[in-house]
Amino acid sequence: MIKPDAVANGHIGAILDKITKSGFKLVALKLTSLSAEKAGEFYAVHQERGFYKDLVAFMSSGPIVAAILEKENAIEDFRKLIGATDPSKAEPGTIRNLFAKSIDANAVHGSDSDENAEIEGRFFFSAFERV
Ligand code: CMP
Repeated sequence: MIKPDAVANGHIGAILDKITKSGFKLVALKLTSLSAEKAGEFYAVHQERGFYKDLVAFMSSGPIVAAILEKENAIEDFRKLIGATDPSKAEPGTIRNLFAKSIDANAVHGSDSDENAEIEGRFFFSAFERV
């Protein structure tokens, strides 16, 4: 997912360019937005964490881009490409180092396992919307 900060700052094209040039295949793609309810559902795993309320407010504050990507070793390689959750700790050249401002406004989200990628893919896309 490209988060509201990166969409608002005009980074959709640059981020998708980095993703595809790094060997990821786009399988589904859409510009949409999350209501607070849907953002809360997407991040339900974090509902006991102190940052949950702010995260839900931020993720429902503006449009996002949802995508399903495919690649060998996709989860690990995507996490390397985006860098650390906290952009101040993200390696130079990573997406969060280049485009993110804070731990909430951290430009992108990536699934943390193949299982969660399936769940998150189904959250955003019907079978008809995937190539
Ligand atoms: P994301 O990969 O989308 O998954 C959960 C999000 O919570 C994370 O990126 C951050 O944007 C946000 N977040 C805010 N505070 C924290 C924190 N202390 N630890 C982890 N994630 C946080």
